[in-house]
Amino acid sequence: MWKGRFEEDQSGLLKAYGESVGFDWQLHREDIRGSIAHARALAAAGILTQGEFEKIEAGLRQIGGEIAAGTFEFRRELEDVHMNIEAALTERIGDAGAKLHTARSRNDQVAVDFKMWLRTACGDLVSKVRGLQRSLVGFASRHSAAVLPGYTHLQRAQPVLFAHHLLAYVEMLDRDAGRLADAAARMDACPLGSGAIAGSTIELDREAVAKELGFSKPTANSMDAVADRDFACEALAAIAIMGMHISRLSEDVILWASAEFGFIALSDRHTTGSSLMPQKKNPDIAELARGKAGRLYGNLMALLTVMKGLPLTYNRDMQEDKEPVFDSVKTASDTLVLFAEMLDGASLCGDRALGAASDPLLLATDLADRLVEGGVPFRKAHEIVGGLVALAGKKGVPLHKLADAEFAAASPVLTRKVVDAAFDLESALAARKAPGAPSPANVGRELARWKKALGA
Ligand code: ARG
Repeated sequence: MWKGRFEEDQSGLLKAYGESVGFDWQLHREDIRGSIAHARALAAAGILTQGEFEKIEAGLRQIGGEIAAGTFEFRRELEDVHMNIEAALTERIGDAGAKLHTARSRNDQVAVDFKMWLRTACGDLVSKVRGLQRSLVGFASRHSAAVLPGYTHLQRAQPVLFAHHLLAYVEMLDRDAGRLADAAARMDACPLGSGAIAGSTIELDREAVAKELGFSKPTANSMDAVADRDFACEALAAIAIMGMHISRLSEDVILWASAEFGFIALSDRHTTGSSLMPQKKNPDIAELARGKAGRLYGNLMALLTVMKGLPLTYNRDMQEDKEPVFDSVKTASDTLVLFAEMLDGASLCGDRALGAASDPLLLATDLADRLVEGGVPFRKAHEIVGGLVALAGKKGVPLHKLADAEFAAASPVLTRKVVDAAFDLESALAARKAPGAPSPANVGRELARWKKALGA
């Protein structure tokens, strides 16, 4: 590419090792937008004539059209997307093209391209997160009165509404959307005009360039601007956390879809069979999503590790920033869309879930609460009910089927009337009405709030 000081051709191996156009071609839209803004600034500064600017703009738009149509040929020997586009422009329009790189380096060029690309990608991910939230709310609404056991330590804990369980994920995803939006909002300073490291002796209107490219301001320090990849680390971190959430949701879906739980059924369209066992219907989407959390974490670790030892400012190591980001954005985006589709086709096996939620042991805490209302200190009440649980276990009867005399012997507070009321599932749920708790009235309000917020 450059003759200048070089007398020998670059090693073929180095060319292959160093080329990035194989993946950074994806920055073509941003590269062309950035070049047009830069050319406009060069014209305003008198470096380009108006005619030269127009030739550059038309040439770049033509190249952009060809790339979009798939007819542009990227050449690996031109290393990256920036040099491919600039070389094609100069081949087509001559000297005006050769003026485009005035007061610019690929260091500020790649920083602005990548930031613009990622800002758009974060916005797109946010809308896909909203889509998954809508599917969760839809699934919850289709079974708004359904009850299932809630678990801690994967042991049955207390009954909850199915909708309450799904809305927990809606909350998590809302924080994910917030993190992605925050990351995008911090990508609002334009690096273009920082040059290779120390700006340029040719003065350009950086404010105007920033504005044209949709940034609120130019970056304040030219060295920071070309060395910074925080924006990529932040987006990868937000995506990794979201991957963790979707992986936990996957685990619930996988458990619920098993014969042991049998709480949900997935559609044929969203499950796979076994090559050997004819009876199998496997929840592969959820398993893949759980597995892909691993690469989302890996991509974050890869970039943090690339960056940690780099002296200021740009170092070629930083070319390793793009593949993890492209991979995480695509992985997250596909996962969000497919997961939403899977939930839209899923149904709850309400009887099975209710059967499990009707286990009287799930209301042992409620029985202790009744003792507390009768003046028994909670620690004591806990011990009394624990004794009754053990007794029922020994006798092989459900907790609420112990004899009146056995309850009375444990505590005079536990009359049959009090016991029967404590074991009524419906009133036990209705009583959980503190903010955030799963009474049907609360959950109904939350569902309505989310439907409105999501336009669902
Ligand atoms: N392809 C390079 C990258 O992705 C562009 C910047 C190259 N800058 C340089 N000084 N070699 O980082």
